Amino acid sequence: MKKKEPYIPKKFPPEKIEWKEIIPLIGMANSAIARFDGMLQGLVNPSVLLSPLTTKEAVLSSRIEGTQATLEEVMQEEAGFTDKKISSSLKEDIKEIINYRNALTFAEGELSHRPMTLGLIKDIHAILLDSVRGKDKSPGEFRNSQNWIGIPGMPMEMSRFVPPDPIILQEHLERWEKFLHFDEFPDKLVQLAIIHAQFEILHPFKDGNGRTGRLFIPLFLFWKKLLTKPSFYLSEYLERNRQQYDDKLLFITEKGDWQGWIEFFLNAIIKQSEINIGKSKKMLELYEKSKMEFAAATQSQYAIAALDTFFKKPIINTSLFLKTTAIHNRGTGNDILKKLVNAKLIKLLKPSEGRKPAVYIFYDLLNIVEDKKIC
Ligand SMILES: Nc1ncnc2c1ncn2[C@@H]1O[C@H](COP(=O)(O)OP(=O)(O)O)[C@@H](O)[C@H]1O
Ligand SMILES: [Mg+2]
Repeated sequence: MKKKEPYIPKKFPPEKIEWKEIIPLIGMANSAIARFDGMLQGLVNPSVLLSPLTTKEAVLSSRIEGTQATLEEVMQEEAGFTDKKISSSLKEDIKEIINYRNALTFAEGELSHRPMTLGLIKDIHAILLDSVRGKDKSPGEFRNSQNWIGIPGMPMEMSRFVPPDPIILQEHLERWEKFLHFDEFPDKLVQLAIIHAQFEILHPFKDGNGRTGRLFIPLFLFWKKLLTKPSFYLSEYLERNRQQYDDKLLFITEKGDWQGWIEFFLNAIIKQSEINIGKSKKMLELYEKSKMEFAAATQSQYAIAALDTFFKKPIINTSLFLKTTAIHNRGTGNDILKKLVNAKLIKLLKPSEGRKPAVYIFYDLLNIVEDKKIC
């Protein structure tokens, strides 16, 4: 077997880009992002409306890493509802998924008063890997040992790719960071494609490189003002085309094929944008329809607040519902929930049991996020 050596990065950013060949793709990808942002700007409260998509992104990006948890399992755990005894590994998966979402929220806040730097990337990583499982993976620290990409547990000789030696890592990271700020580059989306791939090639952390690199995608678009909110997610496409995603990254270092990677990435943006716009529109329609239905069913001043709560947390228990909706009277809250169930707008997932509060679910929203046609 050929001995695997750590990769020595070539000139960065790459020089040989055949711009002419990708002009049509660049045009389509940029207008796809612009359309998505136009839709975002039309939303009164995008954080509330799109919050289930953020959780979904966290689930899918983490699934590329190998976590097993589903969106519903994450939401059920957050609602304090578990119909079966869950394993500690699933609990850890869920924690990592919630960390991913928290890292995104944190970074969005930071970017309002701080530029994107290696320091911020480390802070994001620290949140992402803040868990029992992440403890031995140096959260928030660049690696000082050799790592490799392949099937977990396999020796380096059998790996697919060996990232650079830690001794030269810092120098290449600094070059990478400089490129983040290079605003004269001809196109931001091509720049982002290159930034994401080079981050994965450098593999600066012991673990969590894939997730940090994918988290970076909406953050870069937001930071460079292509988006009003960092809510353009790509992991659904990358998860569906995972083999191609990994192969195209590999071909950069194996064959110097930046062109193939850039084309793949621009195509991903174009395809994912259609999906994201479609889902967001359906969610907006549901919100508008539900506004009237929630008001009619509850006849309450809290109707819209209750709807916002179900958008933020489509699976929720009574206590959290009262808190999030800012209803101080338990009787009022219970009455609203009862009326919503009677009007078939939400469903009772689990009745209260002793001191455990009841759990409710807003199926219509989950079905859109999960692409289900049932219920
Ligand atoms: N050949 C490759 N070259 C560079 N990066 C790769 C290659 N194959 C896969 N990757 C990236 O490495 C990630 C896995 O790295 P890892 O540190 O385990 O991240 P995470 O723990 O978040 O999955 C993949 O999600 C992908 O982004
Ligand atoms: Mg990993």
